[in-house]
Amino acid sequence: MKTIAHKPALDVPGPSPVKVFGRATNAFRFAKDSIGYTRQLFQNYGPIVSLSYGGGTNIYSPLLNCPGTVFAYGPELVRQVATQHEIYYKHPLSGKLYRKGTDSERTEPLKHFVVGLFGVNSDQHRQHRQLLMPAFHKQQVESYCNDIVAITQSVLDHWQIGEPSNIAEVMRLLTLRVATKTLFGEDIGEGGGCTGRLLQDALALLSSPLIALLPLDLPGLPYHRFLNLITRLDEEMRGMIAHKRAAGGGDKDVLSMLIQACDETGAVLNEDELLGHAGVIFAAGHETSSNALTWTLFLLSQHPQVAADLLDELQGVLQGEAPKVEQLPRLPLLEKVIKESMRVLPPVPWNGRVTAQPTQLGGYALPQGTEVLVSIYQTHHMPELYPRPELFNPRRWETIEPTIFEYNPFSAGPRMCIGVGFAMMEMKIVLAMLLQRYRLQFIPQKIDRYGVIVMAPKDGMSMLVHKQDRQFAQGVGGVRGNVREMVDLAG
Ligand code: HEM
Repeated sequence: MKTIAHKPALDVPGPSPVKVFGRATNAFRFAKDSIGYTRQLFQNYGPIVSLSYGGGTNIYSPLLNCPGTVFAYGPELVRQVATQHEIYYKHPLSGKLYRKGTDSERTEPLKHFVVGLFGVNSDQHRQHRQLLMPAFHKQQVESYCNDIVAITQSVLDHWQIGEPSNIAEVMRLLTLRVATKTLFGEDIGEGGGCTGRLLQDALALLSSPLIALLPLDLPGLPYHRFLNLITRLDEEMRGMIAHKRAAGGGDKDVLSMLIQACDETGAVLNEDELLGHAGVIFAAGHETSSNALTWTLFLLSQHPQVAADLLDELQGVLQGEAPKVEQLPRLPLLEKVIKESMRVLPPVPWNGRVTAQPTQLGGYALPQGTEVLVSIYQTHHMPELYPRPELFNPRRWETIEPTIFEYNPFSAGPRMCIGVGFAMMEMKIVLAMLLQRYRLQFIPQKIDRYGVIVMAPKDGMSMLVHKQDRQFAQGVGGVRGNVREMVDLAG
């Protein structure tokens, strides 16, 4: 008898489901090490590959009946996904939990928890982005410079010479303070304030796999704790919005600007939308910058000549002082160091989208609802674009000028990071102040990457704090772990 071969729902090459636990194992492998796992997949199947051949996986989309997950890299595929705004939709990072936002009063806050710009598409995205723009205009962003300098100064004042420090944690707290101050007008200081801390704790819990596996609102389970946190966060933030409204809108923090935002049709953001935007700006704006800073400090600790040249530039222009906004363009090597760091070790390794209609990508048909994850990391490591891509070489930026689809740590197209100006200014200020005052010596340790949304060093990053003494060769080497697959290091 003749058998009829059925074409699978998602006909993009990829590995078969692993025998025992099926597709869940492929998804688990991706969650465990998205970069290592997909690098292997890209090598085996090419620049467009499915997580599991035939589809049936769902790692990001909140929609029911997701046909499957596809990964892609390379400038042309990046261009197609990033610029086709009506085809590739974005969804809230709360993923499948977002669906539960209609279940009960307890899950109601899920409807706006970290939704903001991540949860709107098409015309609504255009409208909201326009409403948010004034808070991110150059002049407005530059007005945060003094706050960033003051917070950095206060963090650096507490460092102990000769003591080891977990730089990843220090950078996280520093950028958390900056985000809380610029977003809500609150300096949470050393002890930690309420709103920023609640948001941070809720975001940390959101990435716990147990929440996705057991989304049950029962005491003792993380999902229950998560709902408690977002309920308290809602109360706090609604109180803060009411307070800012009552104060008459004189403040210049981002939330105050969003409360006052109004477009030419007279449209304003309602309270749920304000909560969603504040959450997204906070979430998108501080773990990203803190990891970019941590990776940059790590790379500098392993490249003594670059560190020495950079310090020459900083001291030549700034003479030991904190930078003023108008001095930043006079620090070209600092800019190249940050750009090269985000090329080699991009803090956001993936852009996730879901197809809003059937489409074609790289010659393959994608049904409506397919998850597409574009690899910023893999694109940044293409030898055709960047000879010896694993080499950290800031000087390469003297001769290359990649397109936005070849180099896109902040993504590209209409959804490109709204905070790019803010992030670059913050990173430059922190690095300029820190490096003129201290030298960080890498302590031999294992550095493994971790995280899908933001790439971080899994167990932090220990460095010994010295006064700046230019002994840059100390601490070179002794790096173990899978970071060595991403960057060529001596020793
Ligand atoms: C080194 C730091 C940063 C990196 C690497 C980064 C990276 C990115 C990337 C890759 C996207 C696009 C995600 C996608 O298309 O799926 C994005 C979007 C976004 N980022 Fe950033 N970001 C950084 C800092 C910031 C800061 C400081 C803010 C705010 C203060 C911010 C706010 C946002 C927002 C609101 C979006 C959503 C834009 C939209 O959908 O229209 N980011 N960011």
